[in-house]
Amino acid sequence: MVRAPAKINLFLEVLGKRPDGYHELATLMVAIRHQDMLCFKEDAPGQPGTAQLSIHHADLSPGPDNLILKAVRLVQSKTGCDRGVTIRLNKRIPMAAGLAGGSTDAAATLQALNRLWNLGRSNDELAQWSSELGSDIPFFFHLPAGWCTGRGEIVESVRLPRPFDLVLAAPPVGCSTPAVYKGVVVPEKPTDGDAIRKALADGDVERLGRLLHNRLEASAMKLCPAVAMTLDKMRRLKPAGQLMSGSGSTVFALCRDRAEAERILTTLRQDPELATTKLFLTRTCSEQAPTP
Ligand code: C5P
Repeated sequence: MVRAPAKINLFLEVLGKRPDGYHELATLMVAIRHQDMLCFKEDAPGQPGTAQLSIHHADLSPGPDNLILKAVRLVQSKTGCDRGVTIRLNKRIPMAAGLAGGSTDAAATLQALNRLWNLGRSNDELAQWSSELGSDIPFFFHLPAGWCTGRGEIVESVRLPRPFDLVLAAPPVGCSTPAVYKGVVVPEKPTDGDAIRKALADGDVERLGRLLHNRLEASAMKLCPAVAMTLDKMRRLKPAGQLMSGSGSTVFALCRDRAEAERILTTLRQDPELATTKLFLTRTCSEQAPTP
């Protein structure tokens, strides 16, 4: 069994639009304990080289576009390995939610196949391959936290001095990442990430809360009004800070401790306007990578 953690962005600035259509980013990503579970087994005899995926989730069917199957094909093409695999995914991370649920599954698949098929590839090599599948997959080779630049695929590991308690709210409607990026206004003077990196290194939750920043929020709010509504409700409960993660639609409250997170969760759960929003408590991952 392999655990695949979700991530949140504590800071995301858009520095410019690139000729390849992507946006140049500077973002601070942190893995959280909310996770998918994957199980990998060698292929059945008589079916060499095939990959079979079953998913335990009502709304997700394993088509060829699934990032897990793309990751299998990527490893096969990079190594020439013709072995197969049977994969079972227990999907718990909300989708189209800005939590990189598909990306973490892809990263977990690359790492699991490296072990299952005895390929002996380094973490760095797998991370480099993974950027061909998606901009935020390499981050998952640098847990628990990373400062990510380029289109998000250039990752510098960041130390997490302590865990942080969070309340996550995933609205019933997700955000399309390309649509959110299309609506973003590139700032003339980008916000600098040095101050929030320092606050994180100091483990200072108050400063961290004040410095949370996501340039994609305004664009996502236009596409998904639930983002603004949920952020507003969180703000009134006065956590250290609140922010949308990635391209949305999940928003999170950064809490001073577990008791505050529980208080905020309880209040949000009583709000009829959030009846269809997935609300849950989680924590940032600790230094040790959660994948066994
Ligand atoms: O790389 P990934 O497949 O995750 O990106 C999905 C979409 O998000 C891209 O096709 C692009 O529209 C947008 N994107 C972007 N700039 C980035 C990352 C993603 O414009 N740095």
